[in-house]
Amino acid sequence: MTFDPSLSELADEAKTWRRTIHQYPELLFDLPKTAALVTEKLEAFGCDEVVGGIAKSGVVAVINGTRGAGKTIALRCDMDALPMLEQTNLPHASKVENMMHACGHDGHTAMLLAAAKHLSANRDFAGKVVLIFQPAEEGGGGSRVMIEEGVLERFGIEEVYGMHNQPGLDVGSFAIRSGPMMAGGDRFVVTINGKGGHAAYPHLCHDPVLAGAQMIVALQSIASRFTNPFDPVVVSVTYIEGGNASALNVIPAAIKIGGTIRTMLPETRKAVEARFREVVSTTAKLMQTDAELDWRPGYPVTVNDPEKTRVAAGVAQSFAGADRVDSDWPATMGSEDFSYMLEKRPGALIWLGNGDTADLHNPAYDFNDDAIIHGLRYWVTLVDQQLNGKTDV
Ligand code: NI
Repeated sequence: MTFDPSLSELADEAKTWRRTIHQYPELLFDLPKTAALVTEKLEAFGCDEVVGGIAKSGVVAVINGTRGAGKTIALRCDMDALPMLEQTNLPHASKVENMMHACGHDGHTAMLLAAAKHLSANRDFAGKVVLIFQPAEEGGGGSRVMIEEGVLERFGIEEVYGMHNQPGLDVGSFAIRSGPMMAGGDRFVVTINGKGGHAAYPHLCHDPVLAGAQMIVALQSIASRFTNPFDPVVVSVTYIEGGNASALNVIPAAIKIGGTIRTMLPETRKAVEARFREVVSTTAKLMQTDAELDWRPGYPVTVNDPEKTRVAAGVAQSFAGADRVDSDWPATMGSEDFSYMLEKRPGALIWLGNGDTADLHNPAYDFNDDAIIHGLRYWVTLVDQQLNGKTDV
């Protein structure tokens, strides 16, 4: 299998873009420098349309093929960094204190820019490619906001593909799985309102502390007694607040508990939420208290479409070799906001090997530039196979 030598040159060029982006990390929806760099390059490459300002800092580019009508597929990357202090001591380390590209979104952005440059100059395909550069993957749900602002309909997107680097997976290797691949994550804070008073006369009070203790124990029955043991569920109570250590003879009027819930199936997520609400309200009632629930929905379960997973795995196998693509990679309890797009359109998220590096979100992490060429090949081969029916680049 031979590749256009320009792809290697392009990967080298993308490495310099990646390092520039790495030096100026930005957070959530507020990515003026990154979005400006992305927009400037996409315009210089001659994309047919470049639209900025979607979900504040999101950028979308369209590249039409020269073979006429066909499908519209979207390739998506994330651009935001994390509020962390970088500890790599690399020459291209972050120049912004307490901000760091610790999840490799700098690499994802550079690879998709490289794909845009290649595809703008090599348009021998039918239909069109939409490139989505999204903000706020790290907790802001930028993908959801772009969907709410109409990105899927506006650009006629029929299929969506994403790629994320994976430390511990060899450079040049890929991994994917069909169906649920990453967990859905929701958070909660419950305020338990009782009736405070003298701790020596508990019968005159409605004790929210004992109600909270019962609630925490009862919540653990969701994962152990209510759901199928083969269907992973995590319910973690991580926060308790109430009472006063200098007033130990006082039963407080209210306490708060909070935590997070992770599930792997959309239907389990719904069922667990319903059961959670039931446990909270009945335990509170049992203890003669009231519960006020602040439910904070997080990212949905990331579910890869089975057919598009085969497409994605086949694309990677066609240039990396079958032994470098693991199609049965274990699911994780982490969450990813590409899940919102996968809820609306068929598609797949694939892991790209980042080699033996520090883990994601670790202060010593750095995206591996040697992975760029492989990610770039994935994007251009995907377009070629999906919009041309070809099996080689
Ligand atoms: Ni990430």
